[in-house]
Amino acid sequence: MEITLNYKGCLNFIDENDIYASASDSLRHLQSLIDGDGQGNDFLGWINLPEKAIYEIGAIKDTAEMLRRNAGITVIVGIGGSYLGSKSIIEALKNPFEDKHDLHKIIFAGQNISEDYLASLLDYLQNKTFNLVVISKSGTTTEPAIAFRLLRELLEKNEGKETASKRIIAVTDSKKGALRQLANIEGYKTFIIPDNVGGRYSVFTPVGLLPMAIAGINIEELIIGARNMAVRTRDNKDVKSNPALIYAAVRNLLYNNGKIIELLINFEPGLHYVAEWWKQLFGESEGKEGKGIFPAAADLTTDLHSMGQYIQDGKRVLFETVLSVEKNTSNLIIPEEKKDLDKLNYIAGKRISEVNKKAEEGTIMAHIDGKVPVFKINIPLLNENSLGQLMYLFEISCGISGYILGVNPFNQPGVEAYKKNMFALLGK
Ligand code: PA5
Repeated sequence: MEITLNYKGCLNFIDENDIYASASDSLRHLQSLIDGDGQGNDFLGWINLPEKAIYEIGAIKDTAEMLRRNAGITVIVGIGGSYLGSKSIIEALKNPFEDKHDLHKIIFAGQNISEDYLASLLDYLQNKTFNLVVISKSGTTTEPAIAFRLLRELLEKNEGKETASKRIIAVTDSKKGALRQLANIEGYKTFIIPDNVGGRYSVFTPVGLLPMAIAGINIEELIIGARNMAVRTRDNKDVKSNPALIYAAVRNLLYNNGKIIELLINFEPGLHYVAEWWKQLFGESEGKEGKGIFPAAADLTTDLHSMGQYIQDGKRVLFETVLSVEKNTSNLIIPEEKKDLDKLNYIAGKRISEVNKKAEEGTIMAHIDGKVPVFKINIPLLNENSLGQLMYLFEISCGISGYILGVNPFNQPGVEAYKKNMFALLGK
């Protein structure tokens, strides 16, 4: 089942003809991505990953199986693009109240420098059997490197150096970098991050796929979904039926109309980290040279009780992209109560999802009335296939959108500034 777009909620603010004019003009940007003759063209490996990833799935699944047999816990160490892709898919598909997938527990580390976080984690892992998957292209990123030092030390203390080295998997560059060097010395099993794929575009490489497979996610379906979206976007010159051209056109037209903040909205809490991944993708790709839409996110209806006021009535610089999940797989009915003190009997007998849908519809109407354009992405069902479609759609739209904006969507020079200061302050 395909995910679809709906821009009706934007038509009070921008003209439909302008959407198609801009989308048609962007065919040249799409072609540049395919031909590799635009800015950042040494980082375009992601565009054909849905086809390439198929060949790696067997090895990834074998390793995931081996790790699941070894231990009940795997700690994934990584940050930014080496973390958010797998985190978002696992969070979207797992039962939040138990480690559903064969009771294998996935823990993320190295995504902060919090002493308390790491101390609690080390405390929790004392005397437990666990695997370590360390993901870093450079191998020298401060946050994961610190976490890896400590976790590796504990693992070696618990299991002895030889067994520990069989429980450590490194996902890194094929030749360069500190982690590649260490893996070669210690004999860790490794997976490769292709040279021409940047961190935030790496979800369909072992960076994203290995942690997902360990968590029991069906990575074939994810790739099938991505491949379907590649056919609908990368391989599709028909503007009207190409969702990437449309999404890129709409967001840039809104940006040019003063809507400089895009809120990615969900009504399913499992999608929280998909928004975190999306924020990195668009924020790092477009926020440069004093330009770019600021990507933000809200979890609804939760945040309607906090951010709802600003969205409805604050400075009119926002537009929303709503991730609208059409069907839920559970079936939970609101019970009737004799006393009806909370006055909810008028919805007794209805499914919770029906109430959530009405909340979504009501919110969209209110926000459009409040001069917030709303772009909708309809997701038939939350599963691997639809999430594969969604992530590829966002990746290719981001490439096109960055080219419309006139920036290089595949570098991140600004990320170095804090590192330079931190290193100087630490006396490096
Ligand atoms: O998108 C990016 O390039 C960054 O988010 C990196 O993925 C992140 O900084 C981690 O880098 P590395 O994989 O080298 O540890």
